[in-house]
Amino acid sequence: MSEDRIESLRRAVEAGPDDAMLRLILAEALLADGRGGESLAHFEVLLQAGALPPESLLQVGAAALEADRLDLARACLEAARQAGVVEGVAALQRQVEDRVAERSGADRLRVRADGADGAAGGPYDDAGPESTTFADVGGMAEVKKLVHRMVVLPRSRPELFERYGRRAGGGVLLYGPPGCGKTLLARATAGECGLPFLNVRIEDVIDPYQGVSERNLHQAFETARAVGPCVLFLDELDGLAYARHKHRGSEARRLVDVLLQELDAIGSDNTGLTVMAATNAPWDVDEAMLRPGRFDRVVFVPPPDEAARADILRVHAAAVPGRDGVDAAAVAARTALYSGADLRAVVEHAVDELIEEALATGGEPPLGTPGLLAAAGRVRPSTLDWLQRAKAYVEFANQGERYEDVAAYLRTREVRRRLARGE
Ligand SMILES: Nc1ncnc2c1ncn2[C@@H]1O[C@H](COP(=O)(O)OP(=O)(O)O)[C@@H](O)[C@H]1O
Ligand SMILES: [Mg+2]
Repeated sequence: MSEDRIESLRRAVEAGPDDAMLRLILAEALLADGRGGESLAHFEVLLQAGALPPESLLQVGAAALEADRLDLARACLEAARQAGVVEGVAALQRQVEDRVAERSGADRLRVRADGADGAAGGPYDDAGPESTTFADVGGMAEVKKLVHRMVVLPRSRPELFERYGRRAGGGVLLYGPPGCGKTLLARATAGECGLPFLNVRIEDVIDPYQGVSERNLHQAFETARAVGPCVLFLDELDGLAYARHKHRGSEARRLVDVLLQELDAIGSDNTGLTVMAATNAPWDVDEAMLRPGRFDRVVFVPPPDEAARADILRVHAAAVPGRDGVDAAAVAARTALYSGADLRAVVEHAVDELIEEALATGGEPPLGTPGLLAAAGRVRPSTLDWLQRAKAYVEFANQGERYEDVAAYLRTREVRRRLARGE
């Protein structure tokens, strides 16, 4: 984020000191800019006001680390754990340990919890063709159509594209709130192309040792080239911005540069490598990444609409006794702004109740609409935080053009109504 954008954010916060979202964005911008101390001051205001979303605890921890306040960093780590945050916890833990080791002058002996956060066996699946297809993805008709045209078609009908002088290639960047099917869709895209799917989470690439992250990233592309035609998916690109918070400047910059070089190289090779990526934080994505031939196609993956929700509920209840008697449309109507992952949780909660009941009565109670509705009441739609934040970006940061799709989505009745309720 540029200096004047930070400056205007700062003025906006001064003018409206109670706007927690703006202050949060300012704190994050300062942190990204390597100004941990200043950033921390704003984070602490939010903490005291009880207005800090749990997902931000790790960033506060990173800011605290930057400002050399180890105790606060540890406290944030602990609070994040207790709040059930998973993503990024291990990475911050390593950072804190490193700092402790640095301080005590000990050799930088690190205890790495490799595999502890799902990285077991490395980031690569086996290299057979992917079996997930669009049929496994509920709803998302628009996004599927787009991806079909951008990725699947150029690979299945190359002659058509050649005839019209239309170059295949260039990466697709999916963005949107968490849990709405970005990873699932990328996987299914590989399945639609009949290609292997290589899933690389940026967090797994990043290593605190100098130069290792770059090598890991390069290695991911090497592996993909060795596999041959495949879909290489860089998941949770947000990790790059997170790295920038932690490594101050040049190190993280080098990682972005390596990524840019690799993307540019794809244009000139013909091994049939398709690159896709996803992020929850499009506002953190480096402009340079969006230039032609890189991620020049940026696709918003919104929370599922009503029809999509019914579809997703059916996908996740497919194996549950009694599913045919369920009025999925009725449940869909009552779950505005629930993500696909939330809907899966709804089905799981309802099923847990059925299992309880089965244990108590010895029968096989069927899934019913009331059970699902009750479960929905216990699951909070997790896209709200993201949408609030996106709203602030679209409105404040004057990035409406870049987020046209998001802006249009935010104007829909479903969203306006729900956000106005301000839960
Ligand atoms: N459109 C969808 N259809 C079916 N399941 C979905 C859908 N969207 C999300 N889910 C469920 O939620 C889980 C998390 O989705 P994921 O693709 O990881 O979200 P994201 O990558 O956007 O954070 C999926 O594994 C799947 O079980
Ligand atoms: Mg994902």
